[in-house]
Amino acid sequence: MSKIALRSRILSFHGKPDQSGHNVDYLEDGVLIVESGKVAICCDAQSAERQGLDLQLCEWLPKHLVMPGFIDTHVHSSQIDVIASYGTQLLDWLANYTFPAESKFADEAYAQAAAVDFVDYSLAAGTTTSFVFTTSHAHAADALFSEAFARDMRLVAGKVLMDQNALPALQDTAESGFEDSLALINRWHGKGRLGYAVTPRFAGTSSVLQLKMAARLMQECDDVWLQTHMSENLEEIRWLESIYPEAKDYLDNYDRFGLVTERSIFAHCIHLSESEIRRLADRGGVVAFCPTSNLFLGSGLMPMEKLTAAGVPVSIASDVGGGTSLSMLMTLAEAYKVCQMQGYSLHPFEAFYRLTLGNAAAVNLDEFVGSFEIGREADFVVIDPCPTPIIERRVAQCTTIAEELFVYMTLGDDRCIERTYCHGIERHNKFTQLIARPGA
Ligand code: GUN
Ligand code: ZN
Repeated sequence: MSKIALRSRILSFHGKPDQSGHNVDYLEDGVLIVESGKVAICCDAQSAERQGLDLQLCEWLPKHLVMPGFIDTHVHSSQIDVIASYGTQLLDWLANYTFPAESKFADEAYAQAAAVDFVDYSLAAGTTTSFVFTTSHAHAADALFSEAFARDMRLVAGKVLMDQNALPALQDTAESGFEDSLALINRWHGKGRLGYAVTPRFAGTSSVLQLKMAARLMQECDDVWLQTHMSENLEEIRWLESIYPEAKDYLDNYDRFGLVTERSIFAHCIHLSESEIRRLADRGGVVAFCPTSNLFLGSGLMPMEKLTAAGVPVSIASDVGGGTSLSMLMTLAEAYKVCQMQGYSLHPFEAFYRLTLGNAAAVNLDEFVGSFEIGREADFVVIDPCPTPIIERRVAQCTTIAEELFVYMTLGDDRCIERTYCHGIERHNKFTQLIARPGA
């Protein structure tokens, strides 16, 4: 495997940072050496030289910023064409836009082409790991896994389980959903850097039998994840109370079947009660905060700081296509505003920690990705310091790395991402438009 030697400004974290810079590893003149896809050296240039490294051998990018690849803990690969659909909230949005768009994935060629676009758009946005809902079609999950495998990405995905309350063409059955998921787990979970997430869409579209079967998959298959939606929209919550009156609350729709674990990721969680928050924290269930989606669909303001303080692991996610961008920088911009509305000013160190090591730790992937610790898989991005005239101008006035990061998270998008590397291979370069497709 190839070797990469970069000399640049380098930012990573070795724990949750505070505003004074504790746990922030910022190298003004750093060296990153990657061997066989793993981080071999990450240190300042002078100490690399003292260790005998010839700095002339490094590609020198003095003004760029290198950081670990971004992690998106909740996204729908089937919803690129749903982004920017006007005028509805969750339940109507699902019925009017989302289910019809997902129905197109019944066509295998369509699903294959959409999978290629999704992974390439994600890499162009600097996202190297995603937790992905495909559709209820097993071949759509196969297509996504094969495209991610071809690019050697660390990606987790699942076929959507939904056996009620949706277009008939999108519905599986409890049995077929179980069989399809099991076959996909056997085919893809642990292959290369891939992982499988059992994916009941949400309690509204899964019968009790299907949720029980999802729990069986979790018990029978080692180390798979569970991903679903929870407590997103007030009308949705009332509807669920009417179809499952026996459940104590929204969380109980999952908890009573054993679906709330440290490997379970719940998107949204905007309207949880105090008791739901306590039980979620007790079980170790992970929340995916999806600010662009929560604002776009008018779902509400997720209390990120409150959940964090209660001991719930909170990750940050795009939730495209309820979310409006695959860019995790744009996602941070909206996260900041949502937190501001609740009296919490999300600091740029915390924000970028959450996109990288924080998200990796929340979903139990930090032994592989999220930082530049020696031996970690080398998934990283190279930030272009001059992506737009206004960013360039604003960055020129910054005197600290924190100020600069705040400019990227407020004004940035995929134009900031000059290059994206997966496992030590360049998979996106905005100047050459190289997208290293399989065989390229
Ligand atoms: N709840 C159930 N399905 C979905 C979905 O596709 N997107 C969002 N945002 N919420 C959901
Ligand atoms: Zn979602």
